[in-house]
Amino acid sequence: MNFKDKKVAVLMGGMSKEREISLRSGRAISSALQKQGYKITDIDVGWDVDQQLRQVKPDVAFIALHGRYGEDGCIQGLLEILKIPYTGSGPTASAVAMDKVLTKKALRLLDIHLPEDWVFHAGRVLHPNNQKTFETNCLRHLPLIVKPNREGSTIGMTIVRQKEELTAALKLALEHDSTVLVEQYIAGTEVTVGVINGRALPPLEIVPKSGFYDYQSKYTKGMTEYIVPARISPTLTEELKKTSEAVFHEMDLEGVARLDFIVSKDPQKKGVKDSPFFLEVNTIPGMTETSLVPKMAQAAGISFEQLAEEILQGASLKVSR
Ligand SMILES: Nc1ncnc2c1ncn2[C@@H]1O[C@H](COP(=O)(O)OP(=O)(O)OP(=O)(O)O)[C@@H](O)[C@H]1O
Ligand SMILES: [Mg+2]
Repeated sequence: MNFKDKKVAVLMGGMSKEREISLRSGRAISSALQKQGYKITDIDVGWDVDQQLRQVKPDVAFIALHGRYGEDGCIQGLLEILKIPYTGSGPTASAVAMDKVLTKKALRLLDIHLPEDWVFHAGRVLHPNNQKTFETNCLRHLPLIVKPNREGSTIGMTIVRQKEELTAALKLALEHDSTVLVEQYIAGTEVTVGVINGRALPPLEIVPKSGFYDYQSKYTKGMTEYIVPARISPTLTEELKKTSEAVFHEMDLEGVARLDFIVSKDPQKKGVKDSPFFLEVNTIPGMTETSLVPKMAQAAGISFEQLAEEILQGASLKVSR
């Protein structure tokens, strides 16, 4: 759709722990679209977002929100009800993608490598799981990585190398989500792949100087090195792109998404070649000019302005089209 003479709202901020990052993404998108002559209204999303939208009455919404309420299907559902076309994936696909456990379940039938995992649900009444038994089971598989099921930006995550560290790691993750995903820690090269409207961009390699791509490494200048295209073989590059496009279609994603992988030898199969292990998918990846998807787009000859415009042009209603 051409939204050139329409009223475009850029939704940013929001109520999640990634609010600050979202403000940066939103401002960058807003100014890129303004430069191209779009009529933009910035909306700093709060709990009264329904009233904000009814007041502004945009013709289309560019969602630059990350995390809870913005990336998990909630705002997408509200926009469907208000009949305002919006960028990116619909409510169901967004909700599944935000949930790392459900995402992996949805992808088990695809031929892709997934880190082995163990899921802990706190406070389940019908099927209570005993934390001590759970921990004993996990500890046979050190090293591990412990994550809240529905967070982003590495918030609440711990790498567990010693058995004494697991209880505290679970406690921290449980502060962020009642469901915790414990995964086998995969040592290897971290690679991320952007997909725009079903087409994969050149994979990007992430080299955090601290060794762990945590919140600080993600958002502090100079703490991480980014190499695009990633220093991997042409065969692996093709495999990563194919896998990313397959996941995008399988999960019914739209607009832009970024898929995170670790390229490693399968620890279950000694001596085998490197394979991409899928970690998770972000349906609203960071969109500052120095974020990863804009870097990959640039390597494919797509400027930040063009990227913002292409995402906007794909805006639609998904439930009630
Ligand atoms: N199984 C694993 N083995 C090794 N490292 C991992 C594993 N899972 C996650 N990591 C590391 O932790 C980082 C964050 O993990 P993940 O991408 O699952 O979470 P996130 O917080 O949702 O990230 P994002 O900021 O991309 O939304 C990864 O980029 C990677 O560096
Ligand atoms: Mg990630």
